[in-house]
Amino acid sequence: MTSVLDGRSCRLRPYRPDDAAAICAVADDFMVARWMTRAFPHPYTEADARRWLAHATTGARGRFFAIEVDGVLAGGIGVEPFSGERSGGGAFGYWLGRAYWGRGIATDAARLLSDSALRSGLRRLEARVFAPNVASARVLEKCGFELEGRLRAYYLDRDDNLCDALQFARLSVLK
Ligand SMILES: CC(C)(COP(=O)(O)OP(=O)(O)OC[C@H]1O[C@@H](n2cnc3c(N)ncnc32)[C@H](O)[C@@H]1OP(=O)(O)O)[C@@H](O)C(=O)NCCC(=O)NCCS
Repeated sequence: MTSVLDGRSCRLRPYRPDDAAAICAVADDFMVARWMTRAFPHPYTEADARRWLAHATTGARGRFFAIEVDGVLAGGIGVEPFSGERSGGGAFGYWLGRAYWGRGIATDAARLLSDSALRSGLRRLEARVFAPNVASARVLEKCGFELEGRLRAYYLDRDDNLCDALQFARLSVLK
């Protein structure tokens, strides 16, 4: 995958070691964390950001990107490739700081990265969404992901309420 992807409203660029404070400034928000898995901490500290950067900047390039808007880090997006019997597939995820919502930025970013990941050889991208996260489901639909199913009583939200999950996938070649 290319190391920088330019869209209409944002740029996807590799994380840099000095991004920790900028990540915290947008990620440390309950409304951002609310329907992310617990791998995304809340509260989100600079130590959490440094741990994330260590993970995101090692291994293969072109998997995890900062979403930049007008030169400022606004969120993150990435693909975590599966291995073994699921090789060729990957988990797809993204988030944006609250100040950036509602401007089509996540749709732009998700389209850029999913196009690029599928062009570069992955055959299947998967995303699981907390069912109440209507905006995220819509982002995926607009980027060519299809709803594959509803996983009932799958997640506990941050207040320990049960939620269904919606499983979406986008394939490089649809059968
Ligand atoms: C989900 C998220 C990425 C959406 O980002 P965004 O940049 O605001 O999304 P977009 O502006 O591209 O909008 C996508 C679509 O959702 C719709 N939408 C946005 N908020 C909505 C809401 N609360 N209810 C219903 N639809 C909504 C938009 O209208 C748009 O659809 P349209 O073009 O058909 O009108 C952002 O809210 C976010 O980062 N949330 C916290 C982290 C998160 O939940 N990440 C995803 C985990 S699966």
